[in-house]
Amino acid sequence: PNAERFARALLEWYDTHRRDLPWRGTRDPYAIWVSEIMLQQTQVARVAEYFARWMARFPTVQALAEASLDDVLKLWEGLGYYSRARNLHKAAKVIVEERQGRFPRTAAEWQKLPGVGPYTAAAIASIAFGEPVAALDGNLKRVLARVCLVETPINTPEGTRLLHDIAQALVPSQRAGDWNQALMDVGAEICTPRSPRCLLCPVQTHCAAAAHQRQHDLPRRRAR
Ligand code: ADE
Repeated sequence: PNAERFARALLEWYDTHRRDLPWRGTRDPYAIWVSEIMLQQTQVARVAEYFARWMARFPTVQALAEASLDDVLKLWEGLGYYSRARNLHKAAKVIVEERQGRFPRTAAEWQKLPGVGPYTAAAIASIAFGEPVAALDGNLKRVLARVCLVETPINTPEGTRLLHDIAQALVPSQRAGDWNQALMDVGAEICTPRSPRCLLCPVQTHCAAAAHQRQHDLPRRRAR
């Protein structure tokens, strides 16, 4: 699709239909970082509960850096994948002690912190700092494979590379964080794996799969 028109349709929809999530009212990099780490392996509804408690107990990166690992792990109890909590604590110390409390501003810099991979780094840098980078998770891959009629299996290096290039070509220079989160919402609520709700989709008119009735065949996966 035309990148400008695609982004305009998507962002207009996001302005009126976005999910109201607790970490979406802020540009505080600390809050956004915490939310993205929690969201790595945990459902949105569950993260919402834990996120509020976490921010009340550790409201700043300084508070987190000064906390004991025991207290940090205690607050994480029930979320699972405890290495996420250990890495948050470790990275908070790095930010406070080695970076004078200054957060990275780019995805490349975020990725140097423990627990932050390419997807999470792009999500944080785009949402908190507006860096125009695509946060390519499973949802974005599915949506973009349909929009662009990508027949390459998405669970292969070639598929990932192709979708990464497509996403990067479409991400707007303004509002990249909203663009990423809009696609996450479309993926979660409309462009679902089994029964996509194309009639409700803000980018249906830009979607090659919808135009050819191929939405149920895509994305393709290589059996493994
Ligand atoms: N999953 C990962 N990051 C998210 C975000 N910012 N909003 C909604 N779902 C997400």
